[in-house]
Amino acid sequence: MSLTIEGLRKRFGTVQALDGVSFAVQPGEVFGFLGANGAGKTTTMRIVLGLMKPDEGSVRWQGEPARSWPRRTWGYMPEERGLYLRMPVLEQLVHFAALYGIPRRRGRDEALGWLRRFEIEEHANRRLESLSKGNQQKVQYIATILHDPAVLLMDEPFVGLDPVNLAMLKAAFLEMRDRGKTLVFSTHQLEQAEALCDSVAIIDHGRVVAAGATRDVRRSTGRQAIRFATSAPGGPEWVSSLPGVTVARDGNDYTELRMDAGADPQALLREAIARGEDVLRFEVTDPSLEDVFIDRVGRHVAAIDQPQPLAGVAGGRA
Ligand SMILES: Nc1ncnc2c1ncn2[C@@H]1O[C@H](COP(=O)(O)OP(=O)(O)OP(=O)(O)O)[C@@H](O)[C@H]1O
Ligand SMILES: [Mg+2]
Repeated sequence: MSLTIEGLRKRFGTVQALDGVSFAVQPGEVFGFLGANGAGKTTTMRIVLGLMKPDEGSVRWQGEPARSWPRRTWGYMPEERGLYLRMPVLEQLVHFAALYGIPRRRGRDEALGWLRRFEIEEHANRRLESLSKGNQQKVQYIATILHDPAVLLMDEPFVGLDPVNLAMLKAAFLEMRDRGKTLVFSTHQLEQAEALCDSVAIIDHGRVVAAGATRDVRRSTGRQAIRFATSAPGGPEWVSSLPGVTVARDGNDYTELRMDAGADPQALLREAIARGEDVLRFEVTDPSLEDVFIDRVGRHVAAIDQPQPLAGVAGGRA
């Protein structure tokens, strides 16, 4: 009873975009599909939706080939977005819901409910292009879910949202999850994923390099992370001389340290006390997904958050 992706391979000319991608997503789960630019996230989603054929591999939903399920099973928020810029907001929401068999009156009521909830009701009769980009994105999300799909696939849904809109969209995600929907979203913003996802898959050059429950993936390096701060100005300098300890990040209010497997975090604390330092913060945690990514891939995910242009026509919709 899950979305099961098995052994996807896809080649474009000389580029092996997917090189054996497998993972499974359970209903009632928020699943993050993580990777740098060009890793293969969009290609995988397009194959799941049947918009593109894989060279090899299969996609199943509830044990049956994904293709055999009706269109309304799927909700897709494409990377290039896909609404009509010139059409009024409410009119196109009703239009797209109708394409999925939702009666117009019901589509209208539900669309208005969502516009109200997202605090953009006053834009209902304006052309989409007159809304700010963040508000357009909220409309795009409503278009994705209005036909009540069982599986939601969203390509970079958080790019370009301000903190208020981000919180609104996240709350809507969690509500969908609690209603038993299956949510898959792609991102290169690993902190977003860490805060939101029950499970994740990290993909690099078309291969899944780590997958599973977020907590297990974070623990998979065998290392621990320490958030450490003393009253010493600029942070303590002696920490990296301890065996098995490296400085991962020098933050504003604490230093993030990485401890090799087997190194003892308490030794760090004892050393600080022996040195007469005032310890302001000492927190032992699992490494971040960013740390796991660096560990598995050998480099950072580029921390870019480029604005996404909205397409002028409804291309790419499932
Ligand atoms: N239609 C296509 N024709 C040729 N190459 C393609 C096509 N679609 C994708 N690719 C290539 O396949 C690889 C994976 O691309 P994909 O769009 O799936 O990556 P992504 O993880 O979604 O990246 P991003 O974070 O930039 O959106 C890239 O090398 C890309 O150039
Ligand atoms: Mg993409």
